[in-house]
Formats: sequence, structure tokens, C-alpha cells
Amino acid sequence: MLIVRAADPDDAPGIARVHVEAWQATYRGIIPQNYLDSLTVQNRTIGWIRILQRQDDAITLVSEEHDGRIVGFASGGPIRHRDNRFQCELTSLYVSPRAQRRGHGRRLFLAVANRLHGMKLTGLFTWVLAENPARSFYQVMGGEQAAELTRDFAGVPLKEIGYGWRETPHYD
Ligand SMILES: CC(C)(COP(=O)(O)OP(=O)(O)OC[C@H]1O[C@@H](n2cnc3c(N)ncnc32)[C@H](O)[C@@H]1OP(=O)(O)O)[C@@H](O)C(=O)NCCC(=O)NCCS
Repeated sequence: MLIVRAADPDDAPGIARVHVEAWQATYRGIIPQNYLDSLTVQNRTIGWIRILQRQDDAITLVSEEHDGRIVGFASGGPIRHRDNRFQCELTSLYVSPRAQRRGHGRRLFLAVANRLHGMKLTGLFTWVLAENPARSFYQVMGGEQAAELTRDFAGVPLKEIGYGWRETPHYD
């Protein structure tokens, strides 16, 4: 059974492991290799403890396999830039490469969106690297291309596509 639940600071090492595995697998050949090589579970754990201890409107959820191992995480909150069409943003969504295509991504996406909907935030937005092979996941989830920009990642300009949902997806 897949379990999706709210993360707490004790989950930081498990989230960090998924973060490093997913970034190194997904962004190889896209984000500079020296940046990917510099990611470690140790330094990401420190970053995630900080994020999870913050008392703000951000939500972080984890997805576990039946043995309790964290294999995915997602976060979201009020949108970070101004866009009249969207009030909330999915800020991360990662599933460990060996656990992909088993439904964790879909469940995490819907669970974060549902919580944002519960916070009365209408219209969901997310940025995805244009070269990300998993980009079409967001189309399958009903997102429509809504924005585009080029941002600097570790010294390299990379194109990002913004996907939007006019209504924040939620459970009925
Ligand atoms: C994108 C991601 C979160 C999807 O999670 P997942 O658990 O593998 O996806 P699910 O099993 O819930 O898939 C649901 C549906 O989305 C679509 N989908 C998922 N991954 C896809 C991919 N790589 N390419 C195309 N469609 C995809 C499929 O239609 C899938 O249904 P199916 O397996 O029945 O065909 C996951 O692949 C991931 O973490 N990738 C690496 C990191 C990343 O790209 N994160 C998003 C950028 S911020």
C-alpha cells in the first residue's frame, strides 16, 4: 500500500536521499555535472531540516512504500511570483528512480493540490525544465502551458515551462 503523509523534520534524511537520487538521474546532461556531483544526502538533509522547521504556509508531503521507506516527496505553497491567474504553486515533486511509474507521483501531486485547495488558493502553477523528459507528466495531470522563461542554473541558462491549472485540482 502506498502512504502519503505530511513530512516532519525527522524525514529530512529520507527526503534528501530521494532528492539527490532523482536530481542526479533526471538532470544528467541538462544541469552541469559539477553541480549534480556536489549534491550529497548530508548537505541536502541540512537544507531539508531548515525547510521542514520553518513555520510558514508551505506544505511538504512524503510518499512511502509498504516497508515505510520514503520514495517520493512533493511541496507547495502560495505562488512565489505574481500571476493573476494562479494563487498557489507546486514547488517540488520527486520520486526515486526505482519507484517511478507506480503511482507515487500522481498521489503526491493530488495530495499537495488538495491541501492548497483547502487553503482557498485558486489556480495552481508549477515550473518544469523544458528538457525534463518527465515534463509530460504535468500534461497527463491536466496542466496547460501557461508561461516560459530562461533561468540561470549553476551558470547555465536553461529554459523552463510553466504549467497551470485554472482550478486547483482537489478530491471531491
Ligand atoms: C515526474 C514524476 C514525479 C512522476 O512520478 P511517478 O510516480 O513516476 O508517476 P506516476 O506513476 O504517478 O504516473 C502517473 C502518469 O503520469 C504519466 N507519466 C509519469 N511519468 C512520466 C514520464 N516520465 N513521461 C511521460 N509520462 C509520464 C503517465 O501517464 C503515468 O501513468 P502510467 O504509468 O499509467 O502511464 C517522477 O517521474 C519523477 O520524480 N521524475 C524525476 C523528477 C522530475 O522530473 N520531477 C518533476 C519536475 S519538478
